Amino acid sequence: MRRIGVLTSGGDGPGFNPCVRAVVRMAASLGVEVVGIRRGYAGLLDHEFVDLPARAVGGIIGRGGTFLGTARSAEFATRGGQLDGLRNLNEAEIEGLVVIGGDGTMRGGQKLQDLGFPVIGVPGSIDNDLAGTDMCIGVDTALNTALDAIDRIKDTASSHQRAFLVEVMGRNSGYLALMTGIAGGAELVCIPEVAFELADVERTVTDAYIKGKSHCIIVVAEGARYNAVRIAEYLNARREEAGFSVRVTILGHIQRGGSPSAFDRVLATRLGSAATRALVEGRRGEMVGLVGNDIALTPFGKIIGEPKPIDVKMFQLAGVLAR
Ligand code: F6P
Repeated sequence: MRRIGVLTSGGDGPGFNPCVRAVVRMAASLGVEVVGIRRGYAGLLDHEFVDLPARAVGGIIGRGGTFLGTARSAEFATRGGQLDGLRNLNEAEIEGLVVIGGDGTMRGGQKLQDLGFPVIGVPGSIDNDLAGTDMCIGVDTALNTALDAIDRIKDTASSHQRAFLVEVMGRNSGYLALMTGIAGGAELVCIPEVAFELADVERTVTDAYIKGKSHCIIVVAEGARYNAVRIAEYLNARREEAGFSVRVTILGHIQRGGSPSAFDRVLATRLGSAATRALVEGRRGEMVGLVGNDIALTPFGKIIGEPKPIDVKMFQLAGVLAR
């Protein structure tokens, strides 16, 4: 293999830049040229190619976002889009591709792979919802960002004797919410994987009040059965029962930005370089992942659309410690 491409696709996350850097530098060490494809699969369809020699990725290891840009492409989800993408790769004499992103990105990679084009995936998503890896790139930084927010919210919550509903991202996964809740000492975590009623939340708030706590922090995953605004409506309508007054903070895209943590930089570096080596050495249609403390390759077929359950013991532990 003489020339490979790299793209970042879907929702970005802190650590995508060090991952691209690792792809470029590892390829250079193997004597392989790298072409960066801007704006993910959308840029592949629009011929947005840029040569990436080793020097082109200098100074990006600590930068948030993705300097290649990213997008969600509806056109590439079609058979016609995939054929056009393959045609553009062939025209640019690109012989293999490293794709960095979440489930949708791996689906795109599998489509190209099914058409006979060599692809290796790297898991990047703050949601940590991909099977085949313990951690995705971006999760650790997003967690630390959410945790920093919780710590700050606790200060003002205690001053005012308030309950806060803090909504975090995660799409259909409760991982970010659960870990933020554990690390932040939350009174309750509401996640899609565990059923709950509005009355359960009210009970937690009232309990915290009766116990004499100065605040009550509830972390709500965006994909939970009731979102933070809905829970707040319920609690506010029953203010007498709840004790504390209630406020809502939705962290949103703040969690996607910022300089990648040391963990994310190291993970991105390990995964990006392993993916490149695997591609150049002839592996195809697989995603690299962190399994235990090792790098493992798993076929796309065992990752795409596969559930990634949360650790129920961790959820129970959060409940036990919130007394
Ligand atoms: O998948 C990452 C993620 O940030 C999810 O947590 C969230 O649901 C979604 O992307 C938001 O997407 P967008 O950036 O398109 O609003």
